[in-house]
Parts: sequence; C-alpha cells; structure tokens
Amino acid sequence: MIEDQASSLRRMNQSRLIKVIAVTGGKGGVGKTNVTLNTAISMAQQGKRVMVLDADLGLANVDVLLGLRVVKNLSHVLSGECTLDEVLVEGPHGIKIAPATSGSQSMTELTPTEHAGLIRAFSELRSQIDVLIVDTAAGISDMVLSFSRASQDILVVVCDEPTSLTDAYALIKILNKEHGVFRFKIVANMVRNMREGQELFNKLTKVTDRFLDVALELVATVPFDENIRKSVRKQKAIVEAYPTSPAAIAIKKLAQQAAGWSVPSQPGGHLEFFLEQLVAKKAVGDIR
Ligand SMILES: Nc1ncnc2c1ncn2[C@@H]1O[C@H](COP(=O)(O)OP(=O)(O)OP(=O)(O)O)[C@@H](O)[C@H]1O
Ligand SMILES: [Mg+2]
Repeated sequence: MIEDQASSLRRMNQSRLIKVIAVTGGKGGVGKTNVTLNTAISMAQQGKRVMVLDADLGLANVDVLLGLRVVKNLSHVLSGECTLDEVLVEGPHGIKIAPATSGSQSMTELTPTEHAGLIRAFSELRSQIDVLIVDTAAGISDMVLSFSRASQDILVVVCDEPTSLTDAYALIKILNKEHGVFRFKIVANMVRNMREGQELFNKLTKVTDRFLDVALELVATVPFDENIRKSVRKQKAIVEAYPTSPAAIAIKKLAQQAAGWSVPSQPGGHLEFFLEQLVAKKAVGDIR
C-alpha cells in the first residue's frame, strides 16, 4: 500500500500539467461533438497539443464527423489486445483522437487490471499533450458523470429547447449534489444572437440559483449556423471548412479563452489525477 502511494506520488511529480475539459449537456443533439471537435482543432491551430477522448463512440460522433476509420478502441487497450498508440487516430491539425468504448460499461466498474492498464496507457502520453477534451454521450449515465467529475472544467452545452434546459439542470444537479462539483461553464448553442444566448443562460441560472449552490459562467454563445451542417456533410470541422463563418468565429473565441483557464498545479492538473478520479468509485472531494 505504502509502496503504491509512493510510486503514485513519484509519477505525479514527474508529470506535466495538462488541461482536461469535459463537454457535456445532458440532452442529445445539442452540439457537444461539434463544440468538442472545433474547440480541439482551434486550440491545435493556436499551437497546443490536443487530444480528444471520444467517450461516445459510434453514433455520428467524432470518428464519423471526421470520416475517420476507427477499428480499435480503449476497451482493446484495457484488455491488453493493443497499446494506446495503436488506438489513437490522427485528426486535423495533428489532434489525437482516442476512441473510448461504444458500450455503456461504467469506468467505475473496471477490474483492477483494467484500471492499472488505463493509467499506464495514458501516463505514457503525458509528455505528448497539453489539452485533453472529452466528448461525452447524451444522458446522465455513470460514464458521463465519471468523465465530467474527473475533468477540471465542465462545458455544458445547451440550446433553446425546454428539454435541453431541464436535462442540463438535471446533470448539473447530480454532479453538484452527488459529486461535489460546483463550477460549470455554459455554452449556449444554436442561438440567433448574443442576446438570445444570454437569455438562455439566465433561464438556467434562475433555477440553479434557486435550488443549487453552484456557479455558472456563460463562456460562449454559438449562433445557429447552416455552415455547421454543411461541414458535417463534408466530414470536416467548421473551423476548417468555413473559418470565417459566425459559428467558427464563436468557437475560436471559446478556444482562445479555454487556453487561459488555469490548471491546478497540485494534484488536479495531472493526467494521472484525471484518470484516478475517472475510475474512482466516489468523487474524492471537489478538485475545481
Ligand atoms: N451552431 C449550430 N448551428 C447549426 N447546426 C448545429 C449547430 N451545432 C450543432 N448543429 C447540428 O446539430 C446536430 C447535432 O450536433 P452534434 O452531433 O454536435 O450534437 P451532440 O450533442 O454531440 O449529439 P449526440 O448527443 O447525439 O452526441 C448536428 O446535425 C449538427 O450539425
Ligand atoms: Mg455527440
């Protein structure tokens, strides 16, 4: 036990700080994958080394959006069939994409061997990336909660639909009440203008202020933009296909801002900490 702790501390001291952002939202189809990918590519364009963890493989997500062929995923790494390097797929601007698993197995249900394998596999990567962005699935599964609570920043994507707001509220509530998370960054997506984005944010904070002890910040207002659909059809990201379109500009601004979000120096800023939180059965206090 003491041995374990000592080696874990040694690993931490050797590791570099890394920013980990989860993109979530509760409801399906609100724009999580588009926000993830475009933020990732924009940060890469700004010179960051970015990895996207596609935690929602298979259904029109990162791989499909970019027309990438994904053969293996993290479950093959966990079972020892291949190395993490063999699973990574390269996307635009050198972003690395790590396909997670399409199943709904919770990360908290990994066997000790899988757990150790995951930590080992990612630890090898720590010198190669500055930012890890996790694209989560719709809904409020254990998997979504694990990824969110393990990240330093949680982006909650909402759009102007009652179910988007109620689902985002439900997600925020459970992360707050059961996992001790209290800071959330909101992205208002598919709105007509800045004012509508602010109104959407106000609707959400009206309920969270009343019932929860959380701090919400509106970090981006992304307009409804036909070019997103056009780029999806081209299997390209909008920041590449239509870089001067309104949605691309909004997401580039978000990426610039995200680059400035602080990374806690000890211990939450380390990749190992993210992974240990990810597989922990319970949140170990609030790290944000
Ligand atoms: N700002 C926008 N303007 C116009 N269309 C958008 C915008 N954002 C997303 N879309 C469209 O909405 C649809 C859903 O987007 P996306 O796949 O990113 O959502 P998601 O939240 O990841 O969905 P899922 O929950 O299924 O993973 C896509 O067809 C996409 O083209
Ligand atoms: Mg998606």
